[in-house]
Amino acid sequence: MPTSYRRGESIICWFLNGVEAVTNLLTPLRRRCPHMGCTLKWNEAENTWNCPCHGSRFDEQGLVLDNPADGNLPL
Ligand code: FES
Repeated sequence: MPTSYRRGESIICWFLNGVEAVTNLLTPLRRRCPHMGCTLKWNEAENTWNCPCHGSRFDEQGLVLDNPADGNLPL
């Protein structure tokens, strides 16, 4: 893989993580992922809470379906 591609990919990831961090600061009452605290997004099609950061998913009761989160959502 060319170095310039890795650098570009890294800059995009850095930017997206920054946007997510600012969004988290501006929305303190939203549901948070227990892995690293990203704001969860409701998936209407599958009735799951999905984490956009690392891919954890939770069912509608908050039970973890996919890691890396290793715990359920707090009630
Ligand atoms: S912060 Fe949600 S899976 Fe990492």
